[in-house]
Amino acid sequence: MSEQQLFKVTIDNITINVAPGTSILHAARSIGGDVAPPAMCFYSKLQGSGGKCRTCLVEVSKGSEKDPRPMPKLVASCRTTVMDGMEVKNITSSKVKEARAGVVEFLLINHPLDCPICDQAGECHLQDLGYEHGKAGTRYEFQRRTFHKHDIGPYIQLHMTRCILCYRCIYTADQLTNKREHGVLSRGDHSEIATYIEKALDNDFIGNVIDVCPVGALTDKTFRFKNRVWFTKPVDAHRDCPTCAGKVQLWMRGDEVFRVTARKDEWGEVKDTADGKTGWICNECRFEKKNVNDWVIEGPSVISRHSVIAQGHYLGLKKPEETIVKVMDGQKPRFFMDIHDVSEVNRPNIDLSLIEGPATSDTFNGKQKD
Ligand code: SF4
Ligand code: FES
Repeated sequence: MSEQQLFKVTIDNITINVAPGTSILHAARSIGGDVAPPAMCFYSKLQGSGGKCRTCLVEVSKGSEKDPRPMPKLVASCRTTVMDGMEVKNITSSKVKEARAGVVEFLLINHPLDCPICDQAGECHLQDLGYEHGKAGTRYEFQRRTFHKHDIGPYIQLHMTRCILCYRCIYTADQLTNKREHGVLSRGDHSEIATYIEKALDNDFIGNVIDVCPVGALTDKTFRFKNRVWFTKPVDAHRDCPTCAGKVQLWMRGDEVFRVTARKDEWGEVKDTADGKTGWICNECRFEKKNVNDWVIEGPSVISRHSVIAQGHYLGLKKPEETIVKVMDGQKPRFFMDIHDVSEVNRPNIDLSLIEGPATSDTFNGKQKD
């Protein structure tokens, strides 16, 4: 059989050879780093995904060797295949930078800025996108959308106001489970993810919609508000599971397992296992195995050093032997700041520095909500 002819493509001045039919996004990912455009709706393991969010726009400055004319408009790199001799600009294009800032502004028009209380904070692709490509302000002056709240079951929390309608969860339910019960209802700015007739999403692999959601619209009810991801430590672990490959990431604090997720690759997508099995995990592994003894721990997960999740996880750190109390001549850390001096929220007769355990509504004065 003759060797397959490869296409030469240049992205941000880096030339590579790829197989015909490769998308610009995949070609850019094979170069890696910042050359790869961000992708909020494309998911390589979900058929039909992509083409919805426009975050992956790139400039094609030369169409191909045969037809070198540039493409007149920016194109979605997840849905455009390379041609032989094509030249593409991503981070080297000012048009792309400007368009991406506009896309971020659009995505944030209705998205609440509730990162401080959102469980996705720290691993949210929209948060990263806003940080890297967004503008400081918004020009939007109208009320953000609100929705009737749908209860989609005991495990998954839906926050429709955070949804960017990327359709990933719908493709996941369609392609991974044998019973899809949710979808996008209505059109235009009334579009929403829902089950129509209030119904729980309860089939064996439905928990994977949490992993594919690029924002905090679908979160794990068993983890909700329990911790911030950057305070937990991700470790790779496995168990002998009759339903899935059982290879997961445990998000731990001490010996406590706070959350179980699938393992992800550098693009934030669920990763296949080393022996070629699919990396999607079942509901039992995700929601019911929260005891460290349920798992065989393999070791700390490899986390990008630039990720907020890597903060505080130092390898080979030698901890000082002296305690803070010893260094501070017997003074306990909670006495470092007199909260009465800097805050008026507490009842004057209660010293926040002295109470045992966390403050409660009783601790605060009338200005504070219970
Ligand atoms: S809920 Fe999440 S995964 Fe589903 S469409 Fe909305 S943003 Fe995408
Ligand atoms: S990732 Fe290409 S359009 Fe969304």
